[in-house]
Amino acid sequence: MKSQSSVKTSPGEPSDVEAIICPAQPDPAFLSNLHGDGFASAYEQHWNEKAMAEMLAMTGVFVHQFSAGFIMTQISLETAEILTYTVLPSQRGKGYGAVLLKTAMQHAFNKGATRILLEVAPDRKAALGLYRRAGFERTGVRKNYYAGPEGKRDAFLMETGLGTELNFR
Ligand SMILES: CC(C)(COP(=O)(O)OP(=O)(O)OC[C@H]1O[C@@H](n2cnc3c(N)ncnc32)[C@H](O)[C@@H]1OP(=O)(O)O)[C@@H](O)C(=O)NCCC(=O)NCCS
Repeated sequence: MKSQSSVKTSPGEPSDVEAIICPAQPDPAFLSNLHGDGFASAYEQHWNEKAMAEMLAMTGVFVHQFSAGFIMTQISLETAEILTYTVLPSQRGKGYGAVLLKTAMQHAFNKGATRILLEVAPDRKAALGLYRRAGFERTGVRKNYYAGPEGKRDAFLMETGLGTELNFR
C-alpha cells in the first residue's frame, strides 16, 4: 500500500512552495488536466483520464504533486524511471520543478533504487538543465522517438545514480 507523505522544502528553495505530497491514491482527472496544460506541445501525447488511470495502476508507480505540477516515477527494484513531469506554464521558473525532481529522487532512493533514468526531447531546455543539475548524464539516443506535425524527433536517454547525498547542484 502506498503511503501518503509530505516533504518539506530545504533552505534556499522557494519559501512559498506548497508541501509536495505523495498521495496514496492519486487522482487521474487532476493529473490528466495538469498533463494537458503542462505539455502543450503537439509532440506530446496527452494522457487523458483513462490513460492516466492506466499509468497509475502499474506496479511501482508513485506521484509527487502540488496544485500546479507533478512528477510520476516508476520504481522496479534498483531502477527508477521518470515517466512524466510537468509544472504549469504560469508557475514555472519559481523552483517548483527542482523541488519535485529532488523529492522524487530522494523517494526513489528511500525505496531502494540505486539509479534513475528518463527520456527527454533535446529541445526541452529547462528540463535538460534541471536534469544536468541533478547529475543526469546522457547514455543514449532513441532516434525518431517522438512523432509530431513537423516530423519526428529524437529522445535523449539520461541516467544518474542515487545515493544518500543527492548530487543536485
Ligand atoms: C521542466 C519543468 C517541469 C521545470 O519546471 P519549473 O518549475 O520551471 O522548474 P524550476 O523553476 O525549478 O527550474 C527551471 C530552470 O529552467 C531554467 N529555464 C527555464 N527556461 C529555460 C530555457 N528555455 N532554457 C534553459 N533553461 C531554462 C530556469 O532558469 C531554471 O534554472 P535555474 O534554477 O538554474 O535558474 C517545466 O519547465 C515543464 O513543465 N516543462 C514542460 C514539460 C517538460 O519538459 N517536462 C519534462 C519532460 S521529460
